Amino acid sequence: MTDFSQLLAADRGQKARTIHLVDKDNFAGWVKRRPAEDRALIEAHRFDGKSGFAFVILPRGGDFEVVSTVKNAAELSPWCLAKLAASLPESTYKLAKGEPGKAALGWLLAQHRFDEYRSKKEAPEQGPRLMVTGEAAKIDETVRLAEATALVRDLVNTPAADLGPAQLEEAAREIAADAGVQLRVTSGKALAEGFPLIAAVGGAASTERAPRLIELEWGKLGDPQIAIVGKGVCFDSGGLDLKPASGMRLMKKDMGGAAHALALARLIMAARLPVRLHLLIPAVENAVSGTAYRPGDIVKSRKGTFVEVDNTDAEGRLILADALTKAVEDKPELIVDFATLTGAARVALGPDLPATFANSDDLASTIEQASRAVDDPVWRMPLWEPYEEMLKSDIADFANASNTPMAGCITAALFLKKFVPDEISWAHLDTYAWRDAAKPGRPKGGEALGLRAIFAMLTGRYLQL
Ligand code: BES
Ligand code: ZN
Ligand code: ZN
Repeated sequence: MTDFSQLLAADRGQKARTIHLVDKDNFAGWVKRRPAEDRALIEAHRFDGKSGFAFVILPRGGDFEVVSTVKNAAELSPWCLAKLAASLPESTYKLAKGEPGKAALGWLLAQHRFDEYRSKKEAPEQGPRLMVTGEAAKIDETVRLAEATALVRDLVNTPAADLGPAQLEEAAREIAADAGVQLRVTSGKALAEGFPLIAAVGGAASTERAPRLIELEWGKLGDPQIAIVGKGVCFDSGGLDLKPASGMRLMKKDMGGAAHALALARLIMAARLPVRLHLLIPAVENAVSGTAYRPGDIVKSRKGTFVEVDNTDAEGRLILADALTKAVEDKPELIVDFATLTGAARVALGPDLPATFANSDDLASTIEQASRAVDDPVWRMPLWEPYEEMLKSDIADFANASNTPMAGCITAALFLKKFVPDEISWAHLDTYAWRDAAKPGRPKGGEALGLRAIFAMLTGRYLQL
């Protein structure tokens, strides 16, 4: 993976090229105050800071400075340096005025490439470096956030053929090894007995791609206990309720929730948050074969309730149900799950906003505040209990899907809620984990959406500074 730590450096007075970041609205005034040569060059480029070029190079003898514009130079967004970072040649740069702040993250992420499957590598050996005058801790945290985001992107982008449940386990194993803890993996007979829903959903996959529950525990016993759960459907064909081609095309990303959960666990452990962490990743392939689970099958969940399979394409909530039940058994004070759970969440909120559900207003509002503070937006949706009746079954306790497409992300969340008691604070993020159209620093493909928001919520909650 990109070595982000090389791309952000503490300012110790090293030589650096200057980047002038000017407010868009004050650009004309700024240009007027520049020396005649700069003015002539900016005018020759017809650079007005609003359209056309992203930046202009100002020659300085054999060297140069850079001028670019931003919406608000006093409060930089994470992405306002991304175009520069992706375009400037290798060198050390610093801002003429002020600190990059949040924009340092975009500087780093703009230089990450997923070129595993390109015979000619895209990324230069060494990209442009940015100098910051913050404390070392800030640099380390930015680097770790970039690494976590890149990890989500890479895992989601990896084709399903190369990222089945076993490879997801391997990714978790690396993270566990870095933190010096063991992984616990439940599969085979133990899975069928202890986690019947995970076994049922994963039952059609080939033996090399057998279903499993991946668990990691870290932190001091006695510290507040939290659980992070992620949907790890390594490919979602829909099962016997097969998806049409258009709906199946992106389903390598259906382990996006697991990727978020893994990356979040890594962030929590690297920051040494004073919590006892339990990470749970149910990993399956929702495939089609003679051993596939069927519409109409009834499975007794780990919790003991009987679930009728109305639709084999509503598999994520089934595997999460058993994982949540396991998480609850340790009585954590907080559970957060991430899942690419419904198309309905996308219809409601579009690709950028993870639909966020919480069983307490307090938790919902701290997540929303944190999400705004770190520019990682999420939007709350209601756990509207009257809709629970949409999950009724004629012969079992309830069904895994509603027979109307209305409020699809709410009924999915209500299904999960059946497995989390009210006394445990719980948040559920129905995230897209994908970007359909590139933006600066954010290529088309796998994406972390809601990850930084939840990490910020957790640091606010547990790191009293
Ligand atoms: N993985 C999908 C949800 C999904 C689809 C997320 C497209 C992002 C983009 C999930 O397993 C699924 O298929 N959900 C169904 C549920 C339905 C059958 C009740 C859906 O949303 O249509
Ligand atoms: Zn599905
Ligand atoms: Zn799915």
